[in-house]
Amino acid sequence: MPLSPSYLDEIVARNPIEDVVSQYVTLTRRSSNLFGLCPFHSEKTPSFSVAPEKGIYYCFGCHKGGGVINFIMEIENLTFREAVAFLAKRAGMDPPEEGRADAAGRERERLLALCKAAARYYHAQLKLPQAQAARDYIAKRGLTGATVTKFGLGYAPDGWTGLIDEMTALGFSKEELLKAGLALKHQTKGTVYDRFRNRLMFPIIDVRGSVIAFGGRVLDDSTPKYLNSSETMIFNKRKNLFALNYAKKSKEDYIILAEGYMDVVTLHQYGFDCAVASLGTALTEDHVTLLSKYTQKIVLTYDADEAGQNATRRALPMLEKAGISVRVLRVQGAKDPDEFLKKYGPDAFRSLLDKSENQAEYFLGALLRKYDLTADDQKVAFAKEATQVIASLPNAVERDVYSRRAAEAAGISADAMMAEIDRARKRLSRTRQKAQERTDTAVAMMHQPKERGLRYDDLRAAMAEEGLLRQLVREPELFGRVDLKEAEFSAPILGRAYTAFRLQYEEGRPVGVSSLGEAFTSAELAHLSGVLQKSGDLVNDRALDDYIRIIRESAKKRENTGQSVEDRLRAAADRANRKT
Ligand code: GTP
Ligand code: MN
Repeated sequence: MPLSPSYLDEIVARNPIEDVVSQYVTLTRRSSNLFGLCPFHSEKTPSFSVAPEKGIYYCFGCHKGGGVINFIMEIENLTFREAVAFLAKRAGMDPPEEGRADAAGRERERLLALCKAAARYYHAQLKLPQAQAARDYIAKRGLTGATVTKFGLGYAPDGWTGLIDEMTALGFSKEELLKAGLALKHQTKGTVYDRFRNRLMFPIIDVRGSVIAFGGRVLDDSTPKYLNSSETMIFNKRKNLFALNYAKKSKEDYIILAEGYMDVVTLHQYGFDCAVASLGTALTEDHVTLLSKYTQKIVLTYDADEAGQNATRRALPMLEKAGISVRVLRVQGAKDPDEFLKKYGPDAFRSLLDKSENQAEYFLGALLRKYDLTADDQKVAFAKEATQVIASLPNAVERDVYSRRAAEAAGISADAMMAEIDRARKRLSRTRQKAQERTDTAVAMMHQPKERGLRYDDLRAAMAEEGLLRQLVREPELFGRVDLKEAEFSAPILGRAYTAFRLQYEEGRPVGVSSLGEAFTSAELAHLSGVLQKSGDLVNDRALDDYIRIIRESAKKRENTGQSVEDRLRAAADRANRKT
């Protein structure tokens, strides 16, 4: 049952987009728009806009956009129905007809309930006689009862259907166990069995406090050492961080990013309650965006081994680019923070924390360890690499400080080092300039929708269609002067929007994307919001007539020849370019 248009209109009217967005983003007014830092990607300068009269938001950086319902869907991670219910509650309205969630929303709720029940089951198992080995292992790793309780650690028993039996008795189906990533199906026999067997269980909890998955560790040296739930409807390891639900409540203004579950659990046990880990995967852009919502300062403390140091080198620029200041804590005399804490205690760790290095210090330190500076050829190699590192520092004072330090280490004159760094910087800026030129030539491309599926085949007609839609949304009375048909639009998405807006106008409803509802996907709504947020149109009758003329001409051309050869070639070239 689709929701009634009048109900949606009321939802939109009673939830002004600027009020709703303000609960998540600090907005400041710039002419008729409000701007703030985008909540959907990490950035230092605001490119996230809200247009109160149009009832839309649009980010010029990551191109997310839409109306107020779509905003809540994105930011609260809800389905359309759930978002409507959320806004109804916010405005003190009756919930939407026939209850809360749609099918997908209900399914997610079931899987979340299942994961919660599974966490309870695993935790309870720890107390049973058969869990002796698990309890011994926990003791051997030095985890306290309080830690076990705080993280809800558990034990998956050694059978094949322990969890399945218990969960099906609670009313969950095997299908749901499979969908939650907690069970597997035998390829040939078709029987369903527990994914986690004889493992110490770490529930993975999202920032809202829901159990969404598990990590399970073996109790001995067998492999694989860790097993994670598979990716599911409710679990995406690229978007979640272990223990962020706790770290976000920490009083510290920084977050410690470690490699493993065990590191994080131990860090918390010793009072470092701001520690998190990615879930057996390298740090992703989504992780960075998530982190930047909670902190401006990260301390990286990956394992001391080669892999850990490589991961550190990779993570540093990703975090810095998001405006997060990063320091690197190098564990010494132990392979990871867990081992270090148990060997040397929290005070020693705190002193490492105080001595943690910024990016430049870390990179120079790594170079100093890499080269033997008593040999001349190694000195030269060191100076060369150090030059690259220092040249990329944006701050002149920092460049001065570190070039002196590097020169001294290499036993060369500071002036020579500085001269090399200047040359490296010139090369760097030439590369940047070339990149800029490439961007400029791609400006035409900019007008193309970001979603590949929405690509315009006839850019000139599409620009006219966009302009027309902007005018119609601004002044819906103009519909009285426009008699175009949807089929005359060259871009299907714009044609569909035209029809939907026209219907709103004819029914005397507010015209815009806010209440378009489920007929348009998130990507389509984002695109339409982008179209409506473009500026620079002439607002007069001539412009309107010009748009109509261009749209008609293009429609005629398509009718006569199919599509013109030129357009088809251009479209093909566009697509080819996009792929590279
Ligand atoms: P302990 O050996 O218990 O101290 O674990 P650790 O946390 O120190 O783990 P380690 O440094 O070996 O690995 C870091 C992280 O990588 C772990 O916490 C897991 O998330 C992940 N990981 C390690 N081994 C495996 C594996 O065999 N499979 C998967 N999927 N992930 C693993
Ligand atoms: Mn470890």
